[in-house]
Amino acid sequence: MAQRPYIVGNWKMHGTRAMLSEARAIDRAAQRLMKVEVAIAPPYTLIHPAHREADQISVGAQDCHHADGGAHTGDISAAMIADAGAKFVILGHSERRQGHSETDATVKAKAEAALEAGLRVIMCCGESADTRKSGNAAAFVENQLRGSLPETIDSASERLTVAYEPIWAIGTGDTATPRDIGDMHAAIRALLVELYGEEEGREIRIIYGGSVKPDNAGEIFAVAEVGGALVGGASLTADSFMSIALAAAETVDA
Ligand code: 13P
Repeated sequence: MAQRPYIVGNWKMHGTRAMLSEARAIDRAAQRLMKVEVAIAPPYTLIHPAHREADQISVGAQDCHHADGGAHTGDISAAMIADAGAKFVILGHSERRQGHSETDATVKAKAEAALEAGLRVIMCCGESADTRKSGNAAAFVENQLRGSLPETIDSASERLTVAYEPIWAIGTGDTATPRDIGDMHAAIRALLVELYGEEEGREIRIIYGGSVKPDNAGEIFAVAEVGGALVGGASLTADSFMSIALAAAETVDA
């Protein structure tokens, strides 16, 4: 892996304050693994307390609203999560696109708002099982990213990460094959170079998500153009999450 691997835990709708001990354990372990950039995205309610516990890892959110503020009951703006200590936000996750009817345009507006608020963005993309079966996965993902990514981003390689998460691999125990991951990441790389130019586009990290576990992480990180992982279930305990981070560290040249 050429760049410093980025290992991000998406806690989804899991965790009360009792989980802060796990965040502390992740942070302590990350201090001994400086070759890897480790981050967690807990539920909104834990962003501030987790940020206060963290010396090494960064803490982020799983979504934000596109507006700065106003009459949006139940929503949270990018500035609010930044104020709570978030350094990044995951946007366009398939669970948001499907469960909350988020369109590419909504996701793009959120990304613009997040960048404006000084947050880094992890932009998710990924095809359904039917789309993969029909042979259109790469075209689908390319279209989704064209519609979801802002046209211009200052210092894109610093502020943007793309997460490829095939929907059928999320929470199922099925992972894409190394070959399929490699092909998709190469297609995403070509698009990023087209959108943001050779220099920035080559450096933007592309991470993989979908049933990443300690026992398959090494194989996934060995794939060209995989710059880390977005981990769901296996990020809920420090033990399994940091085993994945360790597998990433082992791919970095000493
Ligand atoms: P799992 O690792 O539980 O499959 O979840 C992946 C994911 O959706 C991370 O955003």
